Amino acid sequence: MPSDPSPLISAEGISRRVRELAAEVSKTYAGNEIVAVGILKGAFVFMADLVRHLTVPVSCDFIRVSSYGDAKTSGGIVRFEFDVTQPLTDKHVLLIEDIVDTGLTLSYLCENFRTRKPASLRICALLHKPARTRVEVPLDFVGFTIPDKFVVGYGLDVAGKYRNLPFVGVVSEDEKT
Ligand code: IMP
Repeated sequence: MPSDPSPLISAEGISRRVRELAAEVSKTYAGNEIVAVGILKGAFVFMADLVRHLTVPVSCDFIRVSSYGDAKTSGGIVRFEFDVTQPLTDKHVLLIEDIVDTGLTLSYLCENFRTRKPASLRICALLHKPARTRVEVPLDFVGFTIPDKFVVGYGLDVAGKYRNLPFVGVVSEDEKT
């Protein structure tokens, strides 16, 4: 019987850091409007909290890409399952990601989004696992740098489970298989 995820970042710690990130984002975009693009499904909890603390005007859009499925290692193949609902030309686009692991997904997405000629393109990620980097992607806003562990909660899942946990936790090895 797999054990419950063991807490790595508490709900209070996340809440504090998300407010700090929102302040950083608001300062960077002062005087401008943002199109926040959440990468589903993982970013939905983080994005919902982040945008509620922004002090600049924001419109929310979403994309869904698949590169992982239920597997634990990214194959580096990224496919759009659905795209944003508006042109991004001349907009200040902020991509919102739950976790940057190898960087392959974001590297592909940045290349793709640049072809849409936004006024600016930045990335805000809740978590970063630098030990797993395969492609360097400049991250403009990062919540937490974490060790090479498979984490769940606060939007992140393993095989569809645990997205609703209020904290970020590490799953046991047997849960990952
Ligand atoms: P990358 O392309 O390897 O950077 O993969 C990024 C995506 O992999 C994230 O958006 C997650 O969906 C998934 N992922 C990577 N590491 C984890 C993890 O520790 N827990 C849950 N999902 C993860």
